[in-house]
Amino acid sequence: MVELTKEEEEILDGSLGEALAEAMKVVVKVGEALEAEKLVPISHAHVSGISYKNIGEAGLDFLSSLAEMGAKVMVPSTINPAVMDVEKWREMGVTENVAEKQRAILNALKSMGFKLTLTCTPYLYERVKRGSQVAWAESNAVLYGNSVCGLMTNREGGPLALMEALVGRAPYTGYRLKERRKPDFVLDVCSIRDKIRDKFLYPALGYYLGLSASEYTPAIRGLRPEDLTNEKLKAMLAAAGASGSLTFVHIEGLAPQVPAESVQVERPNISDLLSCLPAPFSDEGDVLMGCPHLSPSELAWLAEIVSKYGKPKRRVIVFSARQSLRYASHAIRLLRSMGIEVYFDTCMVVADLHAMGVSECTVDSAKAAYYLASQGYDVRLFSRRDIRRVLYG
Ligand code: F3S
Repeated sequence: MVELTKEEEEILDGSLGEALAEAMKVVVKVGEALEAEKLVPISHAHVSGISYKNIGEAGLDFLSSLAEMGAKVMVPSTINPAVMDVEKWREMGVTENVAEKQRAILNALKSMGFKLTLTCTPYLYERVKRGSQVAWAESNAVLYGNSVCGLMTNREGGPLALMEALVGRAPYTGYRLKERRKPDFVLDVCSIRDKIRDKFLYPALGYYLGLSASEYTPAIRGLRPEDLTNEKLKAMLAAAGASGSLTFVHIEGLAPQVPAESVQVERPNISDLLSCLPAPFSDEGDVLMGCPHLSPSELAWLAEIVSKYGKPKRRVIVFSARQSLRYASHAIRLLRSMGIEVYFDTCMVVADLHAMGVSECTVDSAKAAYYLASQGYDVRLFSRRDIRRVLYG
């Protein structure tokens, strides 16, 4: 039984309108199913599943009807990538019809009060205080938010995060509770950390972690402080979220206590990491980067390479948040002047790569490799360490 406050009861009874009453009904039902004792106020929400490619007509109808009912979010709320760059959609081969449907989805979300951020890296741009309860969908954001930024969220589904954004509350259960975050599995990488760093195998490490610790709340032991940069953690945690259902990873060096040896400890070797990847390493095909969206510093890193070595010999497409323009406009201009396609608002997984003329590709993201392979693309992986060879042959 979820105990509700007077205000929550009133929302449930329709004091703030039919849409919020419906949303509250869903949140309470989920709370009951998860045996939450109460709801907890959230201070931010991030909703995934807003690409027309993924949600189609049914999703559009659902969002439009909520917007028509006057639903409004109660907390700052952001959204994941859409099927297209809202400005350069024609260059992506998106049809007029699909663009119109996607715009209708975005209009519905906007009228509900969502910020049209269209990125899966809200943790790079949103100001949310450490320790805050939030409602985030999108596995990479959940893992990064919980494990690096100290946020408190469960791994919400897109529709549930939407309902939680509307009522400003979420069931107080699971990884929202500190005691749920106690690690019960340790991945010890002390003996392979130098190779991981030298070969930039953070995506492989994350992918392995997701596969081997899905049932657990894992801790990673042995990474060095120089491994704990945004870019490396982002690559690792995105992969961990793709291969498993992890919600939180205790990272030694970021979180206070690492558990004693009494919990299960695994010490993989490099070939364990490599053998579980969802695609082989190879440079063939178009080069796609930006899963998760490239950060401003990653854009600057890539721009530095092309400014030094010139135009890449292959087609290169990168995806980033439109907000990166604020911090990396020079890098973005330079990349474009060197023939690199830079898209915002969308990503390689939720866009239609076939319409962009891509069928064979190589990616630096284990998450992207997993999802693109499952969509039937001929996909390979490359390590960022080999970026020069990949771009210039
Ligand atoms: Fe982001 Fe799309 Fe990858 S939403 S994490 S770039 S699948």
